[in-house]
Amino acid sequence: MSTGTKLEKEYNKHGTEEIEADTEEKLIDDGYESAGYVGSTSSLRSAVGKYLMNGRLHLAPIDTSNPQRILDLGTGTGIWAIDIADSYPSAEVIGVDLSPIQPQWVPPNCRFEVDDIELPWTYQANSFDFIHSRNLEDCIKDWPSLMSSIYRCLSPGGYFELVETTPDALCDDRTLPSDCSLRKALDYYQEGMKSAGRGNFVTPTILRERLEAAGFESVQVVTVKQPIGSWPKERRLKRIGALARLVYTAGLEAYANAVMKRFLKVEADIVDGLVKGAIEDLKNNRYHTYNYLHIAYGRKPKLGE
Ligand SMILES: C[S@@+](CC[C@H](N)C(=O)[O-])C[C@H]1O[C@@H](n2cnc3c(N)ncnc32)[C@H](O)[C@@H]1O
Repeated sequence: MSTGTKLEKEYNKHGTEEIEADTEEKLIDDGYESAGYVGSTSSLRSAVGKYLMNGRLHLAPIDTSNPQRILDLGTGTGIWAIDIADSYPSAEVIGVDLSPIQPQWVPPNCRFEVDDIELPWTYQANSFDFIHSRNLEDCIKDWPSLMSSIYRCLSPGGYFELVETTPDALCDDRTLPSDCSLRKALDYYQEGMKSAGRGNFVTPTILRERLEAAGFESVQVVTVKQPIGSWPKERRLKRIGALARLVYTAGLEAYANAVMKRFLKVEADIVDGLVKGAIEDLKNNRYHTYNYLHIAYGRKPKLGE
């Protein structure tokens, strides 16, 4: 069992079900940070994604009556794999990641493997009903090659679902100043990732083309706005925004060191000042900031189709 943070423990207790209402109300009002809920970004992103998808773990119309084998690529803390294993007890679920950071106590139909998904796959062709990936965009050097592994190992009629968030700070009503620290920090992030040969900015078109080029059919892309910060009035969105702000806060601190300091060689005090300012921007509920969550899925044609 993970010995992680308070938030991870809460998830371990409840799965990704909602945190108890009274606890949550307090969290949203006080801010998750002040309540000590600084969880892993992977778990937090998972919660945000699930809330945005109205509690659903996937949108692909898989045969939910009897899924057999499900694969989660770059599973991180394994939270999605664990949840899907609980949802479909008939399925064997495998979560694969470079790092062995998954918990040991998991549903009996879920297991984890440590492997590099960019190396040739050892899974048999046509052996999965459903393959899922989330927030891997900047991790993958060669998407066409990965897509061809995914396509080969899906069974005919099986689905691949790809979920990505954009590392962005958008605003429709001009409340977020164009020269604020948050925007500057994200510009640096993009520049740094590009200098490392990464930093694709996913759009619905890019995701659709990626799936279609690999041979998938009936491709659908659903895009949802994800508020960042607890500025929305509506309770559900406020909760999503409060969690998303935590993801951004933790991400900013981590990426500042890796991308700005290491890749771009920006001076440490400039980076630290920018991060501090960006975190203040995230807390400012006058700034109506959001980004996008894109969910793309497609089906491998059945033989003879
Ligand atoms: C941003 S995290 C996303 C985690 C998880 N999918 C989620 O949304 O909660 C990216 C994960 O991909 C893993 N990863 C990156 N490159 C990988 C590779 N080539 N093979 C396997 N895992 C990889 C990282 O170790 C990390 O856990």
